[in-house]
Amino acid sequence: MTSLIIVENEQEMGRKAADIIGNLINKKPDCVLGLATGSTPLSTYQHMIEDYQQSKTSYQQVTTFNLDEYVGLSANDKNSYHHYMITNLFDHINIKSGNTHIPCGISKLPETCKAYRQALTEHPIDLQILGLGANGHIGFNEPGVDFDSTVHVIKLDEQTIKDNTRFFESERDVPTQAITMGIKDIMAAKSIVLLVNSENKVKAMQALLQGPVDNDCPATILRKHPDVTIIALKKLFKNITIHQ
Ligand code: GLP
Repeated sequence: MTSLIIVENEQEMGRKAADIIGNLINKKPDCVLGLATGSTPLSTYQHMIEDYQQSKTSYQQVTTFNLDEYVGLSANDKNSYHHYMITNLFDHINIKSGNTHIPCGISKLPETCKAYRQALTEHPIDLQILGLGANGHIGFNEPGVDFDSTVHVIKLDEQTIKDNTRFFESERDVPTQAITMGIKDIMAAKSIVLLVNSENKVKAMQALLQGPVDNDCPATILRKHPDVTIIALKKLFKNITIHQ
């Protein structure tokens, strides 16, 4: 079942998502979280940090798995998702670094995929946070991806490279490949929260809400998941009519 929460702004989006995460941790202190990167979840991470500081939500027993990492960037690279997670979340909460997992995009990629796959099997994800690519990607599962895919290396779409150039000095510096959880890994999560925050994603969100389930827009597979919550900004619905 999909539920849709429409929010006024990014702060409210972050608050709602952090509340869902906080409630899960209260109920299940040793839960497994699937985490995302990009600009979308930043406000969620800020609210999680606030909750940790003010309400003492403890991450002591929490395990995390990130969706993806660029191939070729080391953990120290400021554009790596390792660096992103450490600076935007992990350094500010009491999570054990041994309980955080991000695929390594540097070497032995087939072995890394296999080990990550195995770790995911051993630690089923309770709640997966997702952003949405303008082309409908989730994680780095680009259009055309096999819906049965597990952790794999993928060639990034031209549009994704363009979209993510804003984080790099130039388009030439954006890696062309990434290692990502597959669609099957994402769908195995017990619950999913998808955050949609900007106008360039309206088409993909509309396809997700109303279009056919089709790997041209990978996010449409989420319609087959039993527990998805979409949190989206109100301004994105100007030109979308929701058919009940
Ligand atoms: C990135 C990530 C995704 C993210 C999406 C949207 O490339 N691999 O996990 O959800 O694209 O990014 P942003 O939140 O910056 O718009």
